[in-house]
Amino acid sequence: MKTLVTYSSRTGNTQMVAKAIHSVFPPDAQLCPVEEAPAPETFDYLAIGFWVDKGLPDELAKCYMSTVRNKRVGLFGTLGAWPDSDHARQCMEHAVKTMEDNGNTVTCTFLCMGKVDPKLLEMMQNMPGAAERHAMTPERKARLEEGMKHPDAADLERARMTFSNACEG
Ligand SMILES: Cc1cc2nc3c(=O)[nH]c(=O)nc-3n(C[C@H](O)[C@H](O)[C@H](O)COP(=O)(O)O)c2cc1C
Repeated sequence: MKTLVTYSSRTGNTQMVAKAIHSVFPPDAQLCPVEEAPAPETFDYLAIGFWVDKGLPDELAKCYMSTVRNKRVGLFGTLGAWPDSDHARQCMEHAVKTMEDNGNTVTCTFLCMGKVDPKLLEMMQNMPGAAERHAMTPERKARLEEGMKHPDAADLERARMTFSNACEG
């Protein structure tokens, strides 16, 4: 059984989750950023991680995902929104459908919050129309503050649990 854990991560959140997931696979499982990932053909199982960008898996992850055909895969990701929100669910549903449309079987999925890059927040506040579109409501403030704590130890444990039996069978 050849396993690959590969991930796209700009600021390290998804990489943290990828390392946790990698730790539950057999010692010969490979771990690498998606930019350096070998072609998927030689693997029996792939765990693929992304960060959410405009409601979808980020471009680098999407690009690699589009090369995977007829494999057993697990998907994981991090995002700024609540992981139980419609936004999160729709993003993962889209990712799962993309994989299934290419003949893959998705054995498990995992999403958790990841702190949002403060530089992005600053940029959003300075954009025209920001006051209306990205207003700092109490809800948004609370979410961003919670996000700053993630991924935390409980997220990483849930990620390990989700993937612990993923590549069997
Ligand atoms: C350009 C950009 C766009 C983003 N878009 C979304 C989004 O649409 N929805 C969301 O929930 N989070 C969004 N985020 C937040 C990231 O998905 C989140 O912070 C993630 O944990 C980053 O992962 P990384 O540290 O592995 O790069 C965005 C972040 C950036 C930088």
